[in-house]
Amino acid sequence: MDKLQGIDSHIVIIGCGMSGIGAAQKLTKEGFKNIKIIEATGRSGGRIKTTTFGNVIVEIGANWIHGPSKANPVFQLACEHGLLDAQAMSEENQALDVGGHPSFQSFYSSSGNKLTPELTESVSQLFLTLLGKSKEFILTEKEPYPSVGEFLKKEIAKHVVEWKDDVEWKDDAETKKLKLALLTMMLKLECCVSGTHSMDLVGLGAFGGYKTLPGLDCTFPEGYEGLIDAMMKGLPEGIVSYNNPVKCVHWNGSFRGANSPEQTFPVMVECENGETVPANHVIVTVPLGYLKEHYETLINPPLPLSKVHSIQRMGFGTNNKIFLEFEEPFWEPDCEVINLIWEDETPLADVKPDVNQFWMKKIFGFTVLQPPERYGHVLCGWIAGHESEYMETLSDTEVKNSMTEVIRKFTGNPSITPKRILRSKWHSDPYTKGCYSYVAVGCSGSDIENIVQPLPLQEADTKPLQVLFAGEATHQSFYSTTHGALLSGWREADRLITHYTQCPLISQNLSSKL
Ligand SMILES: Cc1cc2nc3c(=O)[nH]c(=O)nc-3n(C[C@H](O)[C@H](O)[C@H](O)COP(=O)(O)OP(=O)(O)OC[C@H]3O[C@@H](n4cnc5c(N)ncnc54)[C@H](O)[C@@H]3O)c2cc1C
Ligand SMILES: *[C@@H]1O[C@H](CO)[C@@H](O)[C@H](O)[C@H]1NC(C)=O
Repeated sequence: MDKLQGIDSHIVIIGCGMSGIGAAQKLTKEGFKNIKIIEATGRSGGRIKTTTFGNVIVEIGANWIHGPSKANPVFQLACEHGLLDAQAMSEENQALDVGGHPSFQSFYSSSGNKLTPELTESVSQLFLTLLGKSKEFILTEKEPYPSVGEFLKKEIAKHVVEWKDDVEWKDDAETKKLKLALLTMMLKLECCVSGTHSMDLVGLGAFGGYKTLPGLDCTFPEGYEGLIDAMMKGLPEGIVSYNNPVKCVHWNGSFRGANSPEQTFPVMVECENGETVPANHVIVTVPLGYLKEHYETLINPPLPLSKVHSIQRMGFGTNNKIFLEFEEPFWEPDCEVINLIWEDETPLADVKPDVNQFWMKKIFGFTVLQPPERYGHVLCGWIAGHESEYMETLSDTEVKNSMTEVIRKFTGNPSITPKRILRSKWHSDPYTKGCYSYVAVGCSGSDIENIVQPLPLQEADTKPLQVLFAGEATHQSFYSTTHGALLSGWREADRLITHYTQCPLISQNLSSKL
């Protein structure tokens, strides 16, 4: 085929995160000439955000390439741009398949003790087995409980009964209590993984729809944003309009361009600052959290109900990081994760936590930024849900004081004091409103399909593909990740490319038949 039709069509991409950049990259490569990215904030990258903390760099948003191996396009790009270290790129690292789950490591309890590996290993095994089981319901028609949380708790309750009779375990009441406390911590970790307040909100039937890729998760030594910078260099200069929040996407219309009054466009993007940008196609990549809050005014005529319902049903919660820097480490040199076990907690009790008073109890633990030669002595605390959202409303000093208290309690060392603190506040970020999506109770993969459907839904007698939808939350099996975001941007770019390449092909076929 010679020159691509539609090369002159005007395409607006809303949002300059991984998905928007991915779409622009593919369309540019294909030769499309009139592409514009409109971004609300003053930067590219969205939820990929690297910043400095004292003398080191830390990730406020995405940290790992989940499943860094050949099938992961983020890994591929990172390799091409030379952004990973040798170990991350090694065949051995790519072949490791740990099912995408972080390892459990150093366990501190609220009475200032460290838990023994005998105890923690068997409980970790049990939890991982149950978690694996909860992913199997994607294959069956029926799920025994609506949520992952309920399923896990019912299974745990079954095991607790067995603990009594198991001579091997020789459980006294104290050990049993610790085991339940450990399982509670693991549920909190799982809340961070899914970006949800509670695993009771995550749909059991669809949980297994999320797919992991082989490869031991790796990080970017110079920061994730290096990948964004490298990708931006491949785009035409001036393609992005920054600090320009979009107010409304008007579609199903006939809008005239300022520079080409003879030409009409089906879509017009209206910005908060009054600017209007006519377009043939608009790719919306705003986060699901933003869409949940603004879908009524962001799209006009309003979204069809099928899309609205799926946007409302899909889950989008909060997961935040709290970075703490120390003069000296209180952990062992090779330690990667410090888990916090509150001894009085059990997943089987049906208590409603006091979020404001005990928010810090929701932190499952800290990851240690490794290696110390690069990062110094920095811990990253992880906290999800309403407690995480409440934490955002506190001052740095309040958070630092609470963290100091917790660490002193768990280590039994009354003099440990963090030097410095930095945290993410993804829920209060007006253009994100949380961290990433999950498939909530009552949702299925068809909700993601609904959200993806371009407008107009029926192509009958209007111009096709006026408004398209990309972004992390629109990927069937890799939602919540950077590679899911990238693939979703490529998918929508491909939809337009296919649209324009197929038109002439159809007429060719017709003429050959005639
Ligand atoms: C704390 C945290 C940790 C994470 N960890 C990982 C990880 O380790 N590995 C991983 O793979 N993924 C991780 N993720 C997820 C990953 O960051 C995202 O899935 C991915 O970056 C999303 O890309 P996106 O393009 O879909 O959305 P975004 O990056 O959010 O881009 C959307 C853009 O739209 C803009 N926008 C919003 N509203 C408007 C408007 N009205 N007008 C114009 N622009 C607008 C936003 O400013 C933003 O720049 C993490 C996310 C968070 C928050
Ligand atoms: C689009 O415009 C046509 C013609 O004006 C109208 O009949 C139709 O209802 C509109 N569609 C939507 C979704 O508003």
